[in-house]
Formats: sequence, C-alpha cells, structure tokens
Amino acid sequence: MQMNIALVKGDGIGPEIVTSAVAVLNAIGEKYGHTFVFTDVLAGGCAIDATGIPLPQETVDTCLASDSVLLGAVGGPKWDTLPGNIRPEKALLGLRSALGLYTNLRPARLYPALKDECPLRADIVEKGFDLLMVRELTGGIYFGDRGRREGKYGPEAYDTEAYSVMEIERIARAAFEAARKRRGKVTSIDKANVLETSRLWRETVHRLAAEYPDVEVQDMLVDNAAMQLVRNPSSFDVVVTTNMFGDILSDEASQISGSIGLLPSASLGEGKRGLYEPIHGSAPDIAGQNKANPLATILSAAMMLRYAFDLGEEADAIERAVDKALEDGCRTADIARGEGVRALSCTEMTAEVIKRL
Ligand code: IPM
Ligand code: MG
Repeated sequence: MQMNIALVKGDGIGPEIVTSAVAVLNAIGEKYGHTFVFTDVLAGGCAIDATGIPLPQETVDTCLASDSVLLGAVGGPKWDTLPGNIRPEKALLGLRSALGLYTNLRPARLYPALKDECPLRADIVEKGFDLLMVRELTGGIYFGDRGRREGKYGPEAYDTEAYSVMEIERIARAAFEAARKRRGKVTSIDKANVLETSRLWRETVHRLAAEYPDVEVQDMLVDNAAMQLVRNPSSFDVVVTTNMFGDILSDEASQISGSIGLLPSASLGEGKRGLYEPIHGSAPDIAGQNKANPLATILSAAMMLRYAFDLGEEADAIERAVDKALEDGCRTADIARGEGVRALSCTEMTAEVIKRL
C-alpha cells in the first residue's frame, strides 16, 4: 500500500517531533510492507515568515490532495503580537475548517508505568482511567462572530458561541458510535444551567440517545466535569463536548495521565482523510534542543494508521512499543523524575520506540 501524507511540521518543537513520528512510520512501513510518501507544507509561524500569511492556499491544496495530514505544533512568542487573523494558530483553525474536521478524538489514559507521574491521590491512581474525549472542532465560540465595538462602558470585545442542531448531532453521533466500541457510556458536558447553546446541545444529545439504547448517557455541567476529572476519572468512558470546553478539559485530562507530552489526537470529518496531531503546543522554551517528548506525535501517527488507513495491527504495534518503552523505564525530560533517572533526548526516545516495534 502507498500512502501520501502531508507533513505540517510547524513551529517550535514541531519539526523535531514530526521527524520522530516519520521515523517510526518508516520503520513500520519497512516491517509491514507499506510505502509512505511525505510532503512538507508550511503552516503557522514559519509560513508567516516565508509568505506573510499563516495558512497559504498551497498548504490547504496539498493537504486536500493527500491521504492524511500529520501536524506538529504551531505558534511561538515571535508571532504573539500579530493581530488575531494572522496569528499562527489561525493556520490550525483554518486547516481544521478547510478539511471539514469536526470530530476531534483525544484519548487519555493512565499508563501503569507512569503512575508516579500522576498528580492524583494514590487511591484514585489505583483505579486508573481510560477515557476518550470527543471534542467538537469546527464550531462554537472558536468560529463565531467576534470583534470590538463601543459598549455601555466604553470600548469592548465580544466572541459568540453558536451551535446548530446539525453540528451537535454529528458530533454526538461520533461519540455514541465510539462508545459502542468501548464501554458503552457517554458523558455529555455542557453549561445548560446558563447557556442557550448548551440547552440545545443537551436536547439534541438526548433525542439522538433514543437511537442508541445500548449506550448509557449522562449529562454533566462543565464545572462539575472539571472537578470529576481529578476526583473520579475512572467514571468516564466517552466524553462529548464543545470546542472550547473540550480544549480546556483535554489539557486537564492530559495532566492526570502524567504529561501533556503523551496525548495524541485525531481530527476527522466525513471522509477518511484526517489530521493527526499531539494535543500539546510548540513548547518554544525547549525548541531545537532535542528535549521534546515525541510520544504524543508518535501515538498520533498510530491513530492515523488506524483511522485513515485501516491498519489496526500496525497501529497496535506502535502503541505496544510505546507502552514497552515506558515500562522499560525510558523517560524524556517531562516525565523523568527521581534519583538516577536519565532523561532521554527526543531522538533517543524515538530510537527506543523503533527498537521495540
Ligand atoms: C489545541 C490547541 C489549539 C486549540 C490552539 C493552538 C488554537 O490548544 O489543539 O488544543 O485551542 O484548539
Ligand atoms: Mg488546547
């Protein structure tokens, strides 16, 4: 099988971690007889430097023409003072939107080998957790009308949250389908005691639930969800929520799994082509120092094999190799704690994973 993959390395640690994932994909390709053809495209701060805009049309076109997209991270202090519409982050939002990727899957689980990295109380850690965050990705306040205007108290700014029934239905459906393949439970997170969008969200999820009698549905207010994630994370199976709540809660979920450097994600739309990226950012403070944890990007490549190419066995092999490396004590700086634990570099960790494929 030959697969064309667009690489959006981006900024900061982006190039290092994408290079790691490419090395792992090539190793898998060799082992299982697949050919991956990679095409580099510019997006984010590096695109601003080269072309003046964060998301050149050529990048969108190349991504649309490829079978899948692997992304590192975008952004950095160099571009922080640019106006909102030409910030590096705009590239990410623009790509998600242009590719129609409304479903963002962010799995988070506790690696037994990393129990000591979990900041939670021992009895909670003991129970472990394994959840899938399903985040709506192309709607809500991220894409609503925004601007500046003269208000009652002088100049003000506003952002708008809007959700259509169609947008809620399709993301809820993704969550129900995912729950069927897991432990059969969906927790829908909203702020229905305050927000009208949340009331429509809740109504729509409940209506759809009738089609999935085998799936248990639970509503939870977002403030409570933030608390339950650290109090009782094992109670969650599939979590479905809006773009903004999902952004916030997925960072929280990553921290209780040990490090944000571990969480992969898949962004999917109607077709098979998706975008795969770690949930973390460009970490400009350690960029170019070969210190980044490549595991989230490597695990994102595994998700790509599974979802974009139906290569479940190959995806399992990568995930097992990562598990094994962690079990064997391999640690990058973000998860290396305690006496005598040597932090591996990004390239060393990558080699450890490849060795265990
Ligand atoms: C994420 C990131 C992005 C988001 C930023 C970089 C725009 O935080 O993927 O979680 O908010 O979606
Ligand atoms: Mg985020």
